[in-house]
This record gives sequence, C-alpha cells and structure tokens, in this order.
Amino acid sequence: MNSTVPSPDILTAHLDTANPVDPHAPVMAELMPFPAAPLLCEARIDNEAIELYWEDGERARLPSVWLRDHCPCTTCRHLQTRERLFIPLDEPVPPIEVQLEAGHLQLRWADGHLSQFAAGWLYQRRPEAPAESALPPRKPWCESFTPVRVAHADIFTPRGETAWLEALLRDGLVLLDGGPLADEEVSRIAERIGPQRPTNFGARFDVRSKPNPNNAAYTSIGLALHTDLPNWRQPPDIQLLYCLQNEAEGGESLFADGFQVAETLRQQAPEHFRLLSELAIDFRFQDETQDIATRAPIIECDANGEVVEIRFNNWIRDTLRLPAEQMAAWYRAYRHFWTLLHSPRYQIDFALAPGGMVAFDNRRVLHGRRAFDPNTGARHLQGTYLDRDMLESRLRVLARNS
Ligand code: OGA
Ligand code: ZN
Ligand code: ZN
Repeated sequence: MNSTVPSPDILTAHLDTANPVDPHAPVMAELMPFPAAPLLCEARIDNEAIELYWEDGERARLPSVWLRDHCPCTTCRHLQTRERLFIPLDEPVPPIEVQLEAGHLQLRWADGHLSQFAAGWLYQRRPEAPAESALPPRKPWCESFTPVRVAHADIFTPRGETAWLEALLRDGLVLLDGGPLADEEVSRIAERIGPQRPTNFGARFDVRSKPNPNNAAYTSIGLALHTDLPNWRQPPDIQLLYCLQNEAEGGESLFADGFQVAETLRQQAPEHFRLLSELAIDFRFQDETQDIATRAPIIECDANGEVVEIRFNNWIRDTLRLPAEQMAAWYRAYRHFWTLLHSPRYQIDFALAPGGMVAFDNRRVLHGRRAFDPNTGARHLQGTYLDRDMLESRLRVLARNS
C-alpha cells in the first residue's frame, strides 16, 4: 500500500470513530467519543485569543496559539496514528478569519492554513470544564470494608471487567471467584489487560513450599504484611495471586490498606510519620545470581504531602544506614507502623478458594499469609504482576463504548 495515500478503508474508519454522533462535526482524531452538543453560537477573534460562546451559555477564551497547536487536520495530526505532527516552534501565525459551520468552529490562519474544531470537543476541553476521567479516585478502606467480588465468567464481559478494574483502582483490592483450576490461568487473565511485568522471580511465579527457597513466600512460614519487591526502584504496581490448591491447614491471606494506616500514623504520631516518610532506608534482595537494591523511605509522599507509595518488607530490609542518633527513633516509628498495620482493626483476612484470585495494588495494599502445615495438604498459588498504566488504559478503552 502507498504510505502517503491512505486507503479509503482507513479514511472511513477514521471518520467513523472520530465522530460517531454528529455528521457535520469536523473529524477530531480521537477514539474517545466527545459530546455532540452543545454547539457554538458565537466565536470572535480577540487579541491573540478566540472568544467562544456555546448554546448552553458556557464560554471560553482560548489563546490562538493553543488552537493552532491542536488543529486536527491531517497535516497537523497523523491520519492513522492520530499523533501530533505539528510542532509549535514558529512564532504563532494569527487567525484572520473565524466562522461557525453548523455550530462548529472554523479558523483561517494568516498563512492560509485552515483548522476546523468540533464544538463538543472544544466544550470538553474548555479551561473551566470540570475534570473528567474514566478512572475512579482512590478510596481508603473503612472499618467494614469488604472486597468487591466478581465472578470469573463476568470479567470476559465489558461490564464485569469494568467493575473488576474500577474496584481494583478504587479500593486497591478485588476478588475473582469460580475460575478454572488451570495452570497459567493467572497469565491469561493478566494478558487480557496488558503484558505481565517480569521480575527476578520470572514473568509468572509459583507460590508453594519449595526445597531450596530463595524467598520466604516459597516456604510454609507465615508472612507478615509486606509489599513485594520494594528493593526495586520501580516495584510492580499490581499483583495477581491465583489459587490452584489450598487444602493445607492455615495459609489464610491477610491484607491492610497501607495508605489508610499511614494516615492513622500521621494523626496519632506526626513525628513517627515524618521519620518513616523522610528517612530513606535500604532494601536488598540477594541470591546466587542477583543483588537488587535501592534506597527509599517506607512511606513516600508527593509534593503535596499525599501518601503515594508504601515500601514495607522486613525480610529484605537491608542494613539500617542512618545517622546513629536517629536510629532508635526510627525503630520506634517502625514499630508503631508495624503494630497499626497488623492490628485487627485495619487488617482483613480470608482463605482463597481454588479457582479464586486476589488482585491488589502492591504499592498501596500490604499482603501476607498465615503459616500453613504442608503435611495436611497442598497449597499452590500462581502469581504475576501488571503495570497500573495497562489497567488505566483498559478502563479508558472500555469507556469508549459505554
Ligand atoms: C508472595 C506472597 C502470599 C501467599 O508470594 O509474595 O506474599 O499467600 N504470597 O502465599
Ligand atoms: Zn492543521
Ligand atoms: Zn508477597
């Protein structure tokens, strides 16, 4: 196929998807639908900006440089990839003519270029518009928190998959029930969402007691609450644990919302919170072939002081390297956080049933398990990790058709 002349198929697909509702609206190179209304009732050039008035009374003032940068024509955006081709490097050329065509905006620039914008697309992007997102905000667990459960068969429907993804992003944890006892089912589920994130334990790992374990999870001992792989600069975002066998006595799963407990710590003892969020410590995993280490605080906050990540794993905490006079205070803060995390008030527990799967935000929710007795029966989980970007992407794609 000639790469410069798009085939009629591609052109039609592009036109169809970009504007499913209003046949008069210009093509906007978007796959996410935008509203067909309200239409524009007035537009005028005003000193390096365009004043826009919509039929519902809303208005916006958009700098002409912004409009030029967002021109959706096929010279400015690639017809197939929808990516921007225009580079806003030159001194902005002013618009010389503004017109409304069936309620949509048309601008003629001083160099002769023509830009057409759908009214609804502009409306959605006016600077005063409330932020819209397909992604649910995070919600801390309350005392009666019970995880959302989705039936395995339902995640193969857009509705069930959306419910599963929304619960996971909102609550940081979601359950799946009634899946098949099939090897690698966890990978099949993961790959509906995105590629599995590989680590030093492989793309997909088996959790059961093994003869020469290189990790506490591969024994039968209890696992205190932890996050996986805090010794990586970028720990995996989302963990999936799929249960294939759980006949052994014990082995119940434990979880706590690290963000919620960090907020409790901040209220109860601001100094303890400060020590755990400001002092970076070392995490390190070593076996015969690997030595993976990083230095970071246990509680990480963003520039606004919001908690954005928990790194907590006592096995792979490395030598505590801090000024000697801060060490005792750091241990007091650590004990306090540990005790809060493990208190029944903040912890939930349940036994995973074969064919069940738990998915959780590994950078927010801590997980653990009670010890099990391998002489009473087999326990076998299969796990993998996913990047949060892939979950968010999937939700946006599902929202296109909802
Ligand atoms: C792990 C882990 C929990 C379990 O593999 O990282 O924490 O229930 N496993 O065995
Ligand atoms: Zn253009
Ligand atoms: Zn773990």
